[in-house]
Amino acid sequence: MVKQNTFTCNACGASHKKWSGRCDGCGAWNSITQEAPLSAGPSKKSLGGKRGRSINLTDLSSKETPPPRTMSGLAELDRVLGGGLVPASAILVGGDPGIGKSTLLLQAAASFSDKGLKVIYVSGEEASAQIRMRADRLGLRGADVQLATETNLRDILTTLEEQKPALAIIDSIQTMWADNVESAPGSVSQVRSAAHELTTFAKRRGMAVILVGHVTKDGQIAGPRIVEHMVDTVLYFEGERGHQFRILRAVKNRFGPTDEIGVFEMTGKGLSEVTNPSALFLSERDKPAPGSVVFAGIEGTRPVLCELQALVAPSPHSQARRAVVGWDSGRLAMILAVLESRCGIPFAGLDVYLNVAGGMRISEPAADLAVAAALLSAREDTALPADTVVFGEISLSGALRPVGQTENRLKEAAKLGFSGAIVPAGSKGTSRQGLKIQNITDLTGFVGDIFGAG
Ligand code: TYD
Ligand code: MG
Repeated sequence: MVKQNTFTCNACGASHKKWSGRCDGCGAWNSITQEAPLSAGPSKKSLGGKRGRSINLTDLSSKETPPPRTMSGLAELDRVLGGGLVPASAILVGGDPGIGKSTLLLQAAASFSDKGLKVIYVSGEEASAQIRMRADRLGLRGADVQLATETNLRDILTTLEEQKPALAIIDSIQTMWADNVESAPGSVSQVRSAAHELTTFAKRRGMAVILVGHVTKDGQIAGPRIVEHMVDTVLYFEGERGHQFRILRAVKNRFGPTDEIGVFEMTGKGLSEVTNPSALFLSERDKPAPGSVVFAGIEGTRPVLCELQALVAPSPHSQARRAVVGWDSGRLAMILAVLESRCGIPFAGLDVYLNVAGGMRISEPAADLAVAAALLSAREDTALPADTVVFGEISLSGALRPVGQTENRLKEAAKLGFSGAIVPAGSKGTSRQGLKIQNITDLTGFVGDIFGAG
């Protein structure tokens, strides 16, 4: 049989028969590269020919004690992990280059070693001297973390086998090189096989492993998405370059909830934990301004207040612009359409900009009403009362739906000194926090009540 070359997308790992400029799998441009054929093993004979060994079966009722977890003491990290580090688990920490992954993991390594875990930090990018310099800056010089600079996977695995650490950190998976795979470091097959070797090693030896993966833009290097399915937990470290806030977000977790976030602030001495993110996200807020609305959101298990900012201005272009940062642009289009067709408020010929302040990213539909309020407030040039939070889901009919965890949202708002809330009618537990509650049944009513129009 002729071995065919395969073409693999570096962004999503989809394989294609021929090259093309755009990947059909994920839509990325210029991300497809040619790979040497993946070895299909020495023989193509069906598995039926030779007998394997029989595997042990157990039933569902077998008692399973929950794994003993180790808390790092960095509360923001522990919560995102689902309550600490699980032994023999594999964790991927993805993020843009320079966002602070190595800083976070060096701090985590030091904290875990303080808790008695043996930690090895393998860097394929920085010399040990550089890492020590960083540790100096972070005030971690005394931490009992073993360092190595190495990219050869075989040597790394041998060392890990001898040293038997409880946690190994591999920074980054894209620099690792397996000598049994015939392609350059950073290619899809190298990254895949390095991740596979490390995760199976971790499971077999009862060692936890944290893989760092750079999110790549140019498509020449395989991105972390292609190893997401191999690991137990996928965390992304995000933030805007201009802001000092960094958000660690769990997108997959076999040992805990997803949607959980941990908030950090990048300082001159490394990352410091932000235990009250609402206060931080609202700290830059000025006086009440048109277009600014405070949304009471829930991130994972925790309420987080943040500010939405909208700008609506006459468009100089034939096609009006809609630009969104931190929210879903499809959802914005939907809300604009509901405002137009249910409330008769046109946005045609107007540029619309929406921004979630502080580099937060919101995915809850509960932000619908806050977005609508920001848009209306910007369009009518009327500020909403500054001490009011807003939340609620909008349906296509323009009706408002109550959302989950109303009480937690209100509690957080009360804690931060807000005195009122605009919520969908029928929301439960609104009376207990002593806030002035405005119940809204539909968007038309909201426009009339708040903006005296409609
Ligand atoms: P780094 O952890 O090297 O990023 P990554 O591993 O994700 O590529 O972080 C690099 C950035 O963080 C760099 O621009 C400098 C900044 N930084 C601080 O602001 N304070 C610090 O104490 C440290 C160590 C880094
Ligand atoms: Mg790094």
